Amino acid sequence: MFGTLNSAKGRPQYALVPPWVNGEVTWIDEAGEYPDDKTICIIKESDGKEHQLSMCHDWPVREPRPIKKRMKIQGPLLTGQRILDSLFPLACGGRAAMPGGFGTGKTVLQETLAKWCDADVIVYVGCGERGNEMAGVLDEFPQLEDPHSGRQLMERTLIIANTSNMPVAAREASIYTAVTVAEYLRDQGLRVALMADSTSRWAEALREVSGRLGELPGESGYPAYLSSRLADFYERAAAVHTLCGKTGFVTLIGAISPPGGDFSEPVTTHTKRYTKVYWTLDSTRAQARFYPAVHPLLSYSEDIQSLVDFWKQNHHPDWLKQRRRFLSMMEDQQRLERMARIIGKDALPPRQQHTLMCAELINEAFLSQSAFSDIDRYCSPQRQAAMMRLIHHFIVKSEEALERGVAIEDISSMPLLRRLQRMGEEIGEDNIKAFTQLSHSLDEAFSKLKEGETDAAG
Ligand SMILES: Nc1ncnc2c1ncn2[C@@H]1O[C@H](COP(=O)(O)OP(=O)(O)O)[C@@H](O)[C@H]1O
Ligand SMILES: [Mg+2]
Repeated sequence: MFGTLNSAKGRPQYALVPPWVNGEVTWIDEAGEYPDDKTICIIKESDGKEHQLSMCHDWPVREPRPIKKRMKIQGPLLTGQRILDSLFPLACGGRAAMPGGFGTGKTVLQETLAKWCDADVIVYVGCGERGNEMAGVLDEFPQLEDPHSGRQLMERTLIIANTSNMPVAAREASIYTAVTVAEYLRDQGLRVALMADSTSRWAEALREVSGRLGELPGESGYPAYLSSRLADFYERAAAVHTLCGKTGFVTLIGAISPPGGDFSEPVTTHTKRYTKVYWTLDSTRAQARFYPAVHPLLSYSEDIQSLVDFWKQNHHPDWLKQRRRFLSMMEDQQRLERMARIIGKDALPPRQQHTLMCAELINEAFLSQSAFSDIDRYCSPQRQAAMMRLIHHFIVKSEEALERGVAIEDISSMPLLRRLQRMGEEIGEDNIKAFTQLSHSLDEAFSKLKEGETDAAG
């Protein structure tokens, strides 16, 4: 780094010394205004070779930019989406895949992440998707405000548009261009998140280019090097110490649109091998207008253990335990619903009806979150923790009531349950205290429930 660029808007940028240059500054221009390709600094190497530097430099996009050293994961990339942050969190500097059939909400979710995630800079690649979607992004973003900095969202967003009507060779390159730009910003010490919608279109471009070159096709006509190209791409996600002594992050999130929603096709299966977080968008959930349609049983995150500390520091020491409880309830729900379809829900024992009731509550009150609701489109970690604790509190309280003999019907008809179901829409960021009040009301309501004659726990 040899200079700072101040622009009227936004944060300062740095003029970086290209990674291959190493030596002593022999001349530097005065502070002022210059075109970005004018020589403003001369560096002389020990062997006498001179380099003339301007504020920009060339870089071959297929090659990762060098770093000093990789770092350990330090915290999550907060997305403001409960099902992601609380159940399947992604580390800052991590890599995630988002597979989903047509219309399951990949584009909406990618855009939601671009809007609300807590990165410093967003690089958004529209790769081979419809042009009007990109136009929508360009229309909408300048009107939105970043909840973290209070500035215009557009100021931190970089869009690389490569719509379906543009040449395939350019599409193949667009993903590399995007990661290189992301790495360049990372080298300035920024937290960068890259969203690519979708990597399937990119792989198709790869296939087409390879076909025209007359190469031998592999699986489904994709070139044999598809897998290694995907690996090379996701490998570029990292938390690093940069060459100029800063810390920087590149987080990669790639959408996959498998043809016909078939998750066994090559792009999906290979991507799964190289990503640590996997958010499956489910068409059944999407058809039921249950958004974001991330399927809690078909998704996973391998970054969990390293993020426990984050939740501890954010007043949620029981996060891991409660998360496990939520997931196991939803697993039981799947099994019990199958049974209920055969024998009828009311024929199930009260304990199992209780599991179904709680799983439904988790789905409706916690996992469902509309991208178009002014109150609920973004959920801070504090609010997520409060909601998760409250639902868990309800589970524990209702279990206790059931044990002491309260009828399941009396629990499921409690008016408070409706308030819990609607809390995401009704209690906003500025009123987090309301969750504690709701928790007290819950205690009160449960203490008033009367035991029935039969032993309901049995
Ligand atoms: N989080 C969400 N909240 C509300 N509606 C959504 C959400 N995600 C998707 N939708 C609805 O689903 C439609 C299709 O989503 P889209 O992202 O275009 O699908 P895909 O890119 O997977 O083909 C959207 O037009 C929108 O109406
Ligand atoms: Mg789409």
